[in-house]
Amino acid sequence: MRVLVVGGGGREHAVIRKLKEGNADLEILCAPGNGGISADAEIIPVSATDVEGMVALAKERQADYVVVTPDDPLALGMVDAMKEAGFDAFGPTKAAARIEASKVFSKNLMRKYGIPTAGYEVFTSPETALAYVRENNRYPTVIKADGLALGKGVIIAQDEEEAKAALHHLMVDKAFGESGSRVVIEEFLTGVEVSVLSFADGNTIVPMVSSMDHKRVNDNDEGPNTGGMGTIAPSPFYTREAAERCMEEIFLPTMAAMKAEGCPFSGCLYFGLILTEDGPKVIEYNSRFGDPETQVVLPLLDGNLLEIMQACSKGCLSEDMVHWKKEAAACVIEASGGYPGSYEKGKRIEGLREDGQADGVMVFHSGTKKTDGVYYTNGGRVLGITACAPTLKEALAKAYEGVERIGFEGMHYRRDIGAKALKGCEE
Ligand code: AMP
Ligand code: GLY
Repeated sequence: MRVLVVGGGGREHAVIRKLKEGNADLEILCAPGNGGISADAEIIPVSATDVEGMVALAKERQADYVVVTPDDPLALGMVDAMKEAGFDAFGPTKAAARIEASKVFSKNLMRKYGIPTAGYEVFTSPETALAYVRENNRYPTVIKADGLALGKGVIIAQDEEEAKAALHHLMVDKAFGESGSRVVIEEFLTGVEVSVLSFADGNTIVPMVSSMDHKRVNDNDEGPNTGGMGTIAPSPFYTREAAERCMEEIFLPTMAAMKAEGCPFSGCLYFGLILTEDGPKVIEYNSRFGDPETQVVLPLLDGNLLEIMQACSKGCLSEDMVHWKKEAAACVIEASGGYPGSYEKGKRIEGLREDGQADGVMVFHSGTKKTDGVYYTNGGRVLGITACAPTLKEALAKAYEGVERIGFEGMHYRRDIGAKALKGCEE
């Protein structure tokens, strides 16, 4: 069987390694992939956003199954295009991917179906938006671009000046193009953040083990936002009671809402949640696996990922296909000097074996290139060093041991991944 995986980051690397488990004879193609992925799959230089090119590749290589993981191709309708061309594919349709691609769509969906989220208003004119912020006069206030914005479309303004600058940046300067032609202004929520990824087949939803991302670049959650600097799973804050409430008040209602809107969700539905004093609320939905959440969640999966994915696309997912190891996982991201700002590429990576791995840890490659058997940096987030162990404390110790041994010039990483969660374990 031949599977084509679309994308080329640490998330895709984690997906590919799990797909191979228990499916030894699986042939995996990955486009565009990266240097580290080339040890686990055949990489092919087709851009993840090239819908026609990807369909042509699936035809040429006669793919039996296609897995579309990144947000952009999903929003562009790559799954629809694959299905039209006769390929079975994992991921939501273009209409269902709006749950991530349009904040206005997702906020209106939550309002219409009574799914708990931050209060909000939508604006299409910068003047009206600013007038609202002034009249409301409550800070911090959260300003979000409607469309995809490389994870940079959310601004938390601490005062009127910052709100004004944010609205200008998104709506007048159009820093993210048409993504900023509409904005959502919402209430600031406080509480612990939890990510819950789930498998969904249009009707049935099966949540994965919970996880916790660390979005800011520096220790103590300081500095600018990044794509994610490290993750742990499961989150000790996500209690059984919280999980039950989320299922009842958020997960099942979201599946029902999408179906009622004529766009049932199939694929991986990601719930970005905040556990507030009034209960769990949705901060955001993603229509895909999170990165680097996937690097800690999938290693804990005790089940056949290929069969689960196929069940999602066929509409026959069941809870008993999905089990979790009673372990904890931690992932620390090694990033290029300067990231999330500008950075240099092409630094030689030390400490990896020929297959891009290292003893005692799993290494997921986010941005690497391989030339003559040597790995070089090729992106902002470069490697995700992941370890599993019976406890979170041990998983973190193992992951950081790996980090000590693997590195490159200018590298930086957070030294406090999991610190908050460890405290939560003790409480
Ligand atoms: P997003 O890009 O949608 O994941 O948002 C980035 C980050 O902004 C989230 O991880 C939260 O930490 C924060 N955030 C977004 N919306 C809110 C909100 N309504 N209240 C508090 N924090 C928020
Ligand atoms: N780590 C957050 C995301 O994938 O959106």
